[in-house]
Amino acid sequence: DSADKGEYRHFMLKEIHEQPRVIQATMEGRITDSRVLEQALGTEAGSLLDDVRHVQIIACGTSYHAGMVARYWIEELAGIPCSVEVASEFRYRHHVIQPDTLFLCISQSGETADTLAALRQAKDAGFRAALAICNVPGSSLVRESDLVIMTQAGPEIGVASTKAFTTQLVALLLFTLALGRHNGLSEKREADIVAALHRLPGQVADALALDGKIAELSKAFMDKNHSLFLGRGAMFPVALEGALKLKEISYIHAEAYPAGELKHGPLALVDSEMPVVTVAPNDELLEKLKSNLEEVRARGGELFVFADGGAELQDQPGIHVLQIPEVHPITAPIVYTLPLQLLSYHVAVLKGTDVDQPRNLAKSVTVE
Ligand code: G6P
Repeated sequence: DSADKGEYRHFMLKEIHEQPRVIQATMEGRITDSRVLEQALGTEAGSLLDDVRHVQIIACGTSYHAGMVARYWIEELAGIPCSVEVASEFRYRHHVIQPDTLFLCISQSGETADTLAALRQAKDAGFRAALAICNVPGSSLVRESDLVIMTQAGPEIGVASTKAFTTQLVALLLFTLALGRHNGLSEKREADIVAALHRLPGQVADALALDGKIAELSKAFMDKNHSLFLGRGAMFPVALEGALKLKEISYIHAEAYPAGELKHGPLALVDSEMPVVTVAPNDELLEKLKSNLEEVRARGGELFVFADGGAELQDQPGIHVLQIPEVHPITAPIVYTLPLQLLSYHVAVLKGTDVDQPRNLAKSVTVE
């Protein structure tokens, strides 16, 4: 029962632990062994995906971070240009709309005022169609969009979004694969990623098993006022989301940067009082990230590295490595989100803040 914390101390922890199941539920009936079932995304999906030449994603908060990850996927796998913008900015500026642009809103609640206002504005602006990725059936967003992909996260009670985010990512990846099929994505590549999706619930469960180790690491953040999160590529939005979680529930100032920007400013802030968290699976960007890590270390910054075994990074003084099970590079943003959720949760518990109802924040911002 979603209104019951069950064995968990907080809704947030319960919802973090629900992720293997709700990720599975979000894929259910939408994939075979090797393909995405396009018709499961809506009866009109096929003809729409044939037409789409651009994607404009709009969202707020955590949902915006899901959109940022999707941009990397859409451009890499479907070869379609994609822009992502927070709704509160989009709705108040002039924009140039390319022909056959799909307007894609992402919202857990489907009731966020800025997102709905952007959608209503888009209706008359000449977009090809409006697609919603949403967790609440019957919400305003669902009712007002042409096409909907529901996430199956179930009710999310904790103000800090967790399972809604990872299920949004799954829905966005399904969408990207379907769009890719209309735009030259090979059957082999699709099958490879669908196989990775099938492995995902198990890998997410493995990431949850790191809970004890993460609780241990969280002690280092308890008395800190600032922190920095670094990532590259599609892991940059994961770093943004990790920083957002930490500031939302532990009230520690947390900033996220694309790792390559470190030397263009934030490095000036790094000292022993500013823990630096990096999310670095073993992919082609890792070597570059490693040199960023050395820059941080050289300035006395304490590093917390979330990486897989292939990264060949060892625990050493000032560098704490948390080994994440090896995952497909495309699904890595989903798996790496979980340890960051757990980190912010444990820091908040240590600090004694109100984890489920952080001060000044609302679950759904229905007024401007
Ligand atoms: C609020 C919530 C966030 C959420 C954001 C967008 O700020 O506290 O957790 O990400 O709204 O909400 P939505 O329902 O549109 O995803």
